[in-house]
Amino acid sequence: MDNFKFHVYTEIFFGKGEIKNLPATLSKYGKNILFAYGGGSIKKNGIYDKVMSLLSEKFNVVEFANIEPNPSLDSVKRGVELCRTHAIDVILAVGGGSVIDCTKAVAAAFYYEGDPWDLVLDSRKITKALPIVTVLTMAGTGSEMNRGSVISNKDQKLKLGMGAPTTLPQATFIDPTYLYSLPPMQTAAGAADTFSHVLESYFKKGEDAFIQDKMSEAVMLTVIKYAPIALKDPENYAARANLAWASSLALNGLTGNGKSGAWSVHSIEHELSAYYDLTHGVGLAIIIPAWMKHILNEQSVDRFVSMGVNVFKISDQLDKMEIAKKAIEAMEQFFTSLGIPMKLSEVGVDEEKFELMAEKAVKYGALKHAYVPMTKEDVIQIYQLCK
Ligand code: NZQ
Ligand code: ZN
Repeated sequence: MDNFKFHVYTEIFFGKGEIKNLPATLSKYGKNILFAYGGGSIKKNGIYDKVMSLLSEKFNVVEFANIEPNPSLDSVKRGVELCRTHAIDVILAVGGGSVIDCTKAVAAAFYYEGDPWDLVLDSRKITKALPIVTVLTMAGTGSEMNRGSVISNKDQKLKLGMGAPTTLPQATFIDPTYLYSLPPMQTAAGAADTFSHVLESYFKKGEDAFIQDKMSEAVMLTVIKYAPIALKDPENYAARANLAWASSLALNGLTGNGKSGAWSVHSIEHELSAYYDLTHGVGLAIIIPAWMKHILNEQSVDRFVSMGVNVFKISDQLDKMEIAKKAIEAMEQFFTSLGIPMKLSEVGVDEEKFELMAEKAVKYGALKHAYVPMTKEDVIQIYQLCK
């Protein structure tokens, strides 16, 4: 197992009604709050009113609304401006990964004189960040308990990750009832995203990281059990609670630390959302089975066998390659059963940019360091398999 440092200081308030602790948590940082949210779902489901009722008496609240899915650099700049104008002490992000990610970039760029995009291109330039508190409304990205932030530069068609120890949220509120109003496609996309995070770790180098791989399998089993329940019965508390906690655990370092190498599927997907503004989890679900088919060989087969036997409960008595192929089939069937469109043609992506996207995926994703190293041609073949 590789050496690693693990320091995840985010205080988690988990469960129904825990939002009552929000005022006390925010008051540790000051009175001037930037209240960040997305396109308005929180106004429909009552979360906006709840937050406002808790804050309006004690705090000066400045609203930062309309943060879009796949948050843009322009939104980051807008947020920085608000923070400077109103001498903000702490940022409250209420939403999914997009809102939370945007606020991380705002928090860091607040202390940076140049263009915030510099920080995305080189996170070593992040020196400080405003404190961030989050209220999660969508499970999937794990942004609520990690330092990462993915920002889209719409002019340059680039979607890249940034992050530093200081961009980790100070506290996160996870009330599973806040996820009840998620549309089915977002529930499914979030489940696919959580699954993909542990899958990426599972397919990192480091065969002796047994404990990490067992935790990853636990997350996969949780998603397989509870995503269909949440889709059928959106107000099932156990399903929402398990999916939400799985989301946080999947990408807070627990399963990836101690293993090395680059992720594969995320870099290939980020190009799709950069060029086509695709929902991240949908893009991942489309790419995963094709990527698996592409990297399956005599050297990688044992990973597939572990997953097939331990997660998809395929008999270990079968031939290794047969288990692997059945595992890929089961993966594809699972995403299909969640109602996710499984072809690029179904989500408005044609062949036109395959080459360009493949080139960028290899460049920005360091795919030559992946579990099975990949070139531009490999990525083009993967896109071709998804047509
Ligand atoms: O904008 P509103 O109106 O709030 O609607 C949102 C949005 O349209 C809606 N939604 C969220 N909570 C809801 C709800 N609708 C009804 N009820 C609720 N309770 O869902 C839509 C999608 O929200 P978004 O925040 O975009 O989704 P997600 O959480 O999947 O975040 C995606 C972004 O996170 C990045 C992705 O690349 C993408 O940009 N990622 C961030 C990571 C990280 N920080 O570690 C890792 C991930 O791999 C990922 O790359
Ligand atoms: Zn993801």
